[in-house]
Amino acid sequence: MRSRELTEFAGKYMAGGVSSSIRVNRAIGRPLFMAKGDGPKVWDVDGNELYDLNNSHGATILGHNHPKLRAAVEKALDMGVICSYETEYQSQLAQKICSMVPALEKVRYTCSGTEATMHLVRLAREITGKDKIIKFEGHFHGYHDYVQFSSSPPLQEAGPPDSPTPYCQSGGIPGIIADLIIVVPFNDVDAVERAIEENKDDVAAVILEPINYNSGCIVPTREYMEALRRLTRDNDVLLIFDEVLSAFRTNPGCAQEYFQVVPDLCAIGKCVAGGYPLSVFGGKKEFMDHLRPLGRSEHSGTYNGHLVPVLAALACLEEIDSPGFFDHVNQLADRFYNGLDQIFRETGLGRVQGLGARFGMYFGIDEEVTNYRQAAKSDPELSLKFTAAAINNGVYIADYGGKAAHHGFSAAYTLADIDEVLNRLQDAARQVRQG
Ligand SMILES: Cc1ncc(COP(=O)(O)O)c(C=O)c1O
Repeated sequence: MRSRELTEFAGKYMAGGVSSSIRVNRAIGRPLFMAKGDGPKVWDVDGNELYDLNNSHGATILGHNHPKLRAAVEKALDMGVICSYETEYQSQLAQKICSMVPALEKVRYTCSGTEATMHLVRLAREITGKDKIIKFEGHFHGYHDYVQFSSSPPLQEAGPPDSPTPYCQSGGIPGIIADLIIVVPFNDVDAVERAIEENKDDVAAVILEPINYNSGCIVPTREYMEALRRLTRDNDVLLIFDEVLSAFRTNPGCAQEYFQVVPDLCAIGKCVAGGYPLSVFGGKKEFMDHLRPLGRSEHSGTYNGHLVPVLAALACLEEIDSPGFFDHVNQLADRFYNGLDQIFRETGLGRVQGLGARFGMYFGIDEEVTNYRQAAKSDPELSLKFTAAAINNGVYIADYGGKAAHHGFSAAYTLADIDEVLNRLQDAARQVRQG
């Protein structure tokens, strides 16, 4: 098998044999090596065709190889891919994003979501003159040191449920950075109220995933989100929505439009350029003017606002903002999540929770999951077995080491594709149950 040869070859020259730690794929014991993608499917180097329920960790919202994104990239090639220069397109894209997302009056571009949240944290500290950040247990904001705490702590090291201990997710992060982080449980108004009121003189911002897809799919109530808005405003603390994953998942105005709660600052990523490396951070003009050259907070970089992803994003947002786009997404979502939840219940695997184009699977859990502590009880071995069976039946699901995490479809799916995926996953679930 070509995959086995490539696994061995990659292991010689790349740390862990992969470009990103998560691609190791414990479910099948080796990374998947892909040869091509088209619409809702990918093909591996051994010629296996798979429906894609990873979708580039949520980035390829239009599916793979979309003709309009292809044309956009060709336009950048025709212009000579002029890199590290402003063209007319960066500001056109900024205008489009600001017209769609309520919190945004001005934006800047980064290549990754990690950089976007890093700059937001820096900016919030500069604006407020305060250093601490409140984050929620089970919420993930990228890989920089300031936020690599308690996104998926082992339960035995997570501390008390109502005031979790900041758990450092990576080696090499100085222990003193934990002093700048306050971790609180999600979906608990009293806990966050206590944390804000007790620390308001030190806290620059509260950062959250408005839909906590990184713990599967945990959707807070509108009242909870309104309480966060009120508590931050009343205590001179900035509210940051990390919409790297939730952006353009439910509607054109992102989760902030879905909840009708507008943050001070927000990060947008993944979907925005349909699989090309672009993220965006921004907020009100008065906040964004704290960036150099007008203010003192630094944000610069060779690849910021690179022409290829900028043109891809213009084409992608035109599709996302077109009439009927989210009607289609929500129709697919209803059919798929109801069908998969039924399969999970019939086979006793657990439950499925989804909203818009992304969903989570909780193995060995029947009751609704509303916080990380419940999500962390999802059975990792059962999850890995199901993931392996799904791949063997022609559906690619990212394994995430067996943790409750996010999966999803793209707008390239049809209802017939969803039915076929459900058939394949039903076979996979039955095979897992038969051992
Ligand atoms: C909510 C959230 N924030 C930030 C990031 C980091 O984005 P990136 O992988 O582009 O650095 C992710 C990635 O999954 C994410 O889900």
